[in-house]
Amino acid sequence: MTARILALASALSVCAAAQQLQSSPFNGDKESIGAGRAAYRLRCSACHGIHAGGGRGPALNRGKFEVGDTDLDIYRVIERGVPGTEMPAYGPRSTEENIWRIVSYLRSFEPSPEEDVLGDAQAGERIFWGKGGCGACHRVDRKGGEFGPDLTRIGRSRSVEHLRESLLDPEEDLPPGYFVVSAVHHDGRTTTGIGVAFDDFSAQLRDSTGKLHSILREEVRSLEREYTSLMPSGYRESLTANEQLDLLAYMKGLRGGGAK
Ligand code: HEC
Ligand code: HEC
Repeated sequence: MTARILALASALSVCAAAQQLQSSPFNGDKESIGAGRAAYRLRCSACHGIHAGGGRGPALNRGKFEVGDTDLDIYRVIERGVPGTEMPAYGPRSTEENIWRIVSYLRSFEPSPEEDVLGDAQAGERIFWGKGGCGACHRVDRKGGEFGPDLTRIGRSRSVEHLRESLLDPEEDLPPGYFVVSAVHHDGRTTTGIGVAFDDFSAQLRDSTGKLHSILREEVRSLEREYTSLMPSGYRESLTANEQLDLLAYMKGLRGGGAK
């Protein structure tokens, strides 16, 4: 009886395996890993870094993944992407084999330890809502302003390096889709804010109080779109080195779904 149940169980698991592999069939295969590396460089490195050390997207060379640590977890996130973030879904434009090759490539390197941020996240949280004034423009867990991007899961979406750059050199790496619209009116007044729409005839922008403006080109002296940052650029000077580290530690810990 026990033997029959065991045989049945193993038959079922063979069936399941035929539908969905649990781990990459290419692990350890040099040639496939090379093909995975080539595909990675072409399609992933712009966000995750040429050696997977991270950038605009998280580091993938830690041997640890937020989505889960099995090959299948990694396969699924590449296949489906992460809706609502910049992580695209590759399922529709790639074959299963090619995704598995990339998984094997990501599995092939020595895990490199995560960068330690020697700051105090709780102190960083106080600076965020206090001295830094970050909460005037950014939301975390539905609290805060809406002028800048929501940072609720920023520690999960970005590498530490990107966070540091965003804080200290905001011009360096603008999030996609961000641009600034400036209108100069006939009486010399200007209206500036984050662009919502821009075309030959009109523009929409949101000013720092959150108010939406629709402006027709024919009604103003000039209407320009600029790819510059509206994030204040003086934090390198106005915050001490320790305060900068505290803020980084706080942001690194923002991983979505409630304060962690
Ligand atoms: C346009 C930028 C971009 C590109 C291109 C991109 N990613 Fe991502 N990826 C991201 C972002 C941002 C996240 C974090 C999403 C979030 O907030 O959860 C992410 C998340 C991931 C994760 C989950 C990480 C974890 O720790 O859970 C994996 C794995 C991943 N990407 C692999 C890839 C692979 C492989 C490719 C190429 C086939 C790729 N990505 C291309 C931006 C990108
Ligand atoms: C006046 C409004 C304003 C204030 C104050 C502000 N930011 Fe920003 N921040 C922005 C805007 C707008 C962006 C979007 C890109 C840009 O313009 O640089 C941004 C971008 C960012 C990003 C990058 C987000 C991404 O998706 O990559 C981070 C991280 C960030 N800010 C952190 C902070 C921190 C920490 C503080 C406080 C020390 C702060 N910001 C203060 C407006 C602000």
